[in-house]
Amino acid sequence: MTIQSIPLFDLTGRVAVITGGGGMLGQQHAAALAAFGAIPVFVDIQIDQPHLAGDVLRQRFHADSIAIRCDITQEESVKSMVSQVIGHFGAVDILINNAANNPKIESAPTVEFSRFEHFSLSQWDADLAVGIKGAFLCSRECGTHMAQRGGGVILNIASDLGVIAPDQRIYRQEGVADDQQPVKPVTYSVVKTALLGLTRYVATYWADRNVRCNALSPGGVYSGQPDEFVRRLSNLIPLQRMARIDEYQGAVVFLCSDASSYMTGANLVVDGGRSCW
Ligand SMILES: NC(=O)c1ccc[n+]([C@@H]2O[C@H](COP(=O)([O-])OP(=O)(O)OC[C@H]3O[C@@H](n4cnc5c(N)ncnc54)[C@H](O)[C@@H]3O)[C@@H](O)[C@H]2O)c1
Repeated sequence: MTIQSIPLFDLTGRVAVITGGGGMLGQQHAAALAAFGAIPVFVDIQIDQPHLAGDVLRQRFHADSIAIRCDITQEESVKSMVSQVIGHFGAVDILINNAANNPKIESAPTVEFSRFEHFSLSQWDADLAVGIKGAFLCSRECGTHMAQRGGGVILNIASDLGVIAPDQRIYRQEGVADDQQPVKPVTYSVVKTALLGLTRYVATYWADRNVRCNALSPGGVYSGQPDEFVRRLSNLIPLQRMARIDEYQGAVVFLCSDASSYMTGANLVVDGGRSCW
């Protein structure tokens, strides 16, 4: 039997809700899905940005693309967003839980707040609210709709830091006392690991309803971080470099399309090999 190249990855007309769609990787996920025919719906708490203007979205991504303001930490906001999408398009076929708080520890001058000893409960609550409560609410609302209509795909954007611990040495800054050195916040590890649990739960819960749920665990994307940080991180990666911004597009299309039809509850790690060292 020959592989039918077009139907395997074809997403024509599929409606794809992308949380954090206005952010750096959300735009990339949208571009990848739209290239295969999907209609990206940009869901973000900040949509008053020029790159999310309706005419820009329609020109860059898909003629039917829209952006919806939604705070995914708020139940009513998520319910309203999902009913707007269903009201507008008739369905949600794909959900990408992509939004997360991801402070740029490597570029900040002082980030003492990030240290475990001082990590505040309010920051803990805020990070878990976006990263895991938001993913739960969006999965519940979109997934229930998908289960009722007989299928759909949920993709959770985790991280290599969901499968390995952060190596705090790469964030060290010259001239800063040990007890004030920046570190990757505990919430990042907790949120990303929790997403893998949510992935397995949802995958098995709705397996009989043809709702697949997988995770993608990307490694760090190069976006102008300081040279020393890039050098230290690259040394931890067998491919010896950070990811280019578009290097998760293939995995996103694979996981959201019928090309991955026999895959659910899995975590696809795309990290230049970092987690196997
Ligand atoms: N950038 C990387 O190197 C990298 C590496 C591995 C994993 N990831 C993961 O990929 C995902 C996207 O990362 P990014 O770098 O594009 O982040 P980003 O900060 O550029 O984008 C996040 C988006 O989420 C939105 N958002 C925040 N709170 C929200 C809320 N309450 N409701 C709705 N939207 C909200 C923000 O407005 C922003 O547009 C995150 O889950 C991140 O952890 C990123």
